Amino acid sequence: MNKRVYIQTVGCQMNVLDSEMVIADLKRHGYTVVDTPAQADCVLYNTCSVREHAEEKVYSALGKVKLHKKDNENKIIGVMGCMAQKDQEIIFKRAPYVDLVVGPGQLHTIPTLLNKIKNGEGRQMAVSLARNEGSQATIARSHETFDPLRDPTMRPTPFQAYLRIQIGCDKFCTYCVVPNTRGPEQGRSPEQILAEANVLAEQGCLEITLLGQTVNSYKFKHEDGSVTDMSSLLEQLHEIEGIKRIKFVTNYPKDMTERLLETIRDLPKVSPYLHVPAQSGSDDVLKRMKRGYTIADYMAMMERIERILPEAAISSDFIVGFCGETEEDFQKTIELVKRCRFKQCFIFQYSVRPGTKASERLEDDIPLEAKARRNNELLAVHDEIAKEDNLKFVGKTVEVLVEGPSKRAKRSDDFDDAHVVQMIGRTTCDRIVVFDGNRRQAGQFLNITIDDASSHTLVGRVKTVEVVSIGM
Ligand code: SAH
Ligand code: SF4
Ligand code: F3S
Repeated sequence: MNKRVYIQTVGCQMNVLDSEMVIADLKRHGYTVVDTPAQADCVLYNTCSVREHAEEKVYSALGKVKLHKKDNENKIIGVMGCMAQKDQEIIFKRAPYVDLVVGPGQLHTIPTLLNKIKNGEGRQMAVSLARNEGSQATIARSHETFDPLRDPTMRPTPFQAYLRIQIGCDKFCTYCVVPNTRGPEQGRSPEQILAEANVLAEQGCLEITLLGQTVNSYKFKHEDGSVTDMSSLLEQLHEIEGIKRIKFVTNYPKDMTERLLETIRDLPKVSPYLHVPAQSGSDDVLKRMKRGYTIADYMAMMERIERILPEAAISSDFIVGFCGETEEDFQKTIELVKRCRFKQCFIFQYSVRPGTKASERLEDDIPLEAKARRNNELLAVHDEIAKEDNLKFVGKTVEVLVEGPSKRAKRSDDFDDAHVVQMIGRTTCDRIVVFDGNRRQAGQFLNITIDDASSHTLVGRVKTVEVVSIGM
């Protein structure tokens, strides 16, 4: 038995999906999944390069698993994902005990490369072409991921799944590694996407989340010259009977068109939950980030959303401490958060990434302490807003898809199905709701009456008498 695999995943939803596909592939090749690196013959790290901290965590985990090689010298250690694409040979230099380096566009090679290593052919590497290493089409092809095999047991829940509709990114925001690690922007064909969505529905999947770096810019050009855009893709996916909810991340502000918003409004299964990162509230900073919009553009988008989808929940990402961000710029970010009252804000401190325009042309001149302070300040402002807005739900009833026991309940030893445990579910607008229930409710849509709220969570109880749900 030398086919026990352990996989650890960091980074974004793309990586969670990639890990699911790699495991499905390896299982088809006779591998079984184990819960700890110690039990495994093959340890895989699916990595992220978006910030330095994410990379350091992987190197420190690698340092630990290296010790396992003392007990079992045949144990294979592999690094896959964005860091593999970005660092390539550097990984072998920094961590000479690593046997395998595979970029996110080459994941289909993993079973073959593992066999080569086992056959004594030495360490193996498979990465995609860099942006200057060939024609646009050849580069794009080298980043295409394989036809996905789906494995419900690898998903956080069997009834929720990610579905990639777009690969790569061409926006080249000056701070970001993704256009290098994931390659050129390519929309997958609607035929492939629909076929995969049908497989997911047959596997009992109720909710799909469509993935792309700028998902609402999705476009696929057919051979006859016609184009499928995000709106028509959503319309086609909406027809699949088993799928009850459709979400999509991450959106690009300028492509949040009236047509798309009207489509979302008219398709009841499509969540009016829009993650549209603003990144900064200052035009000067946005310009240096090369985001391609101004705050006036962003506010015009907010106005369109408010007019067409008044019940939508909007969330955003922000980078604090980007090159040259003055205190005044930062105050503008605070103002934007106050004006937009985002449902959620993911806040990151700027981290210089080798190979990006910002790393070459702009000075990382904001001290760490200032980045940390701005991070905390923005968090506190947003927490207050989120709490106020969540408290407005008290007394209302919302519909949730129950995901399973909450973290607190999972930590308890009680695995009795009938026992009352704290369960967690999400509304169509991605609001987290906890309530007392039982494990058998996982995968059900339930109406929950809200009794209390914090900035991140609504707390409620199962509504027993049927009421009209506001579904927010
Ligand atoms: N495609 C998505 C985001 C992908 S990366 C979009 O355009 O919105 C996820 C988030 O990480 C980004 O939205 C940004 O806020 C943050 N991020 C990206 N590069 C970063 C860097 N160098 N330092 C800090 N945060 C970064
Ligand atoms: Fe990175 Fe910008 Fe592309 Fe998002 S849109 S992945 S932030 S380059
Ligand atoms: Fe990280 Fe790559 Fe995703 S850099 S955020 S894992 S696309």
